[in-house]
Amino acid sequence: MTVAQFIAKQTRLGKRYAKGVLRRGEVFLNESRITDGSKDLGKFDQLKVAGKIIQSHVPRYLLLHKPVGILSANSDPTHRTVVDLIREPWARELHIAGRLDRATTGLVILTNDSTFSESLTQPEHKVPKTYHVDTEHSITGEAIAAFRGGMSFAKEKIRTHPALVIQLSENSCRLTIFEGKHHQIKRMFLRFGIRVTKLHRESIGPYVLPSDLAAGDYITFAKPLPK
Ligand code: URA
Repeated sequence: MTVAQFIAKQTRLGKRYAKGVLRRGEVFLNESRITDGSKDLGKFDQLKVAGKIIQSHVPRYLLLHKPVGILSANSDPTHRTVVDLIREPWARELHIAGRLDRATTGLVILTNDSTFSESLTQPEHKVPKTYHVDTEHSITGEAIAAFRGGMSFAKEKIRTHPALVIQLSENSCRLTIFEGKHHQIKRMFLRFGIRVTKLHRESIGPYVLPSDLAAGDYITFAKPLPK
């Protein structure tokens, strides 16, 4: 990704903003002012835009226990976001490796290492994501069989990888999926007229939400676990 593309994406202010800050001399790559945004940005090149470091030399990795009502976004004019919960000077450099709906709780991974986040989110890696699901209606054998068999999603033109399901009670289960499509679990259940009332992500691949991590808290870790 070029410097200009990264500025547009990370600030969410678009290409025009990126061109403007470059033209005005407000962009510093590894402490040197640059005006040409076509240069490729290295993973840990430091990039400072309009006085703020938007990518630093230091890789950052963080597990957050997302509470209900918090938006999986970097910033938002009306709602608090997962990044707003991070009390670190470098919080604004982070991006989210797999979003959760506002009402969903549980594990969110944040990082400034795009190779790491892509290794967790790109569909071809088929990283398992495990959720505790509570439902209003009984979870039927028909629904479980369909989840285990894989389901077609016409909008995304995909067939899901066979999910793992452990039924915990008539109205709850532990479900592992291998994609991360918009509202995927709610849509899977709704296909069978079953409304999800609570959704909580317990793990993403080898990363497990620590049981003693309170909602709203986070821990940092030094480097990704070996594959
Ligand atoms: N599936 C959903 O429906 N919502 C989430 O937040 C995550 C998976």
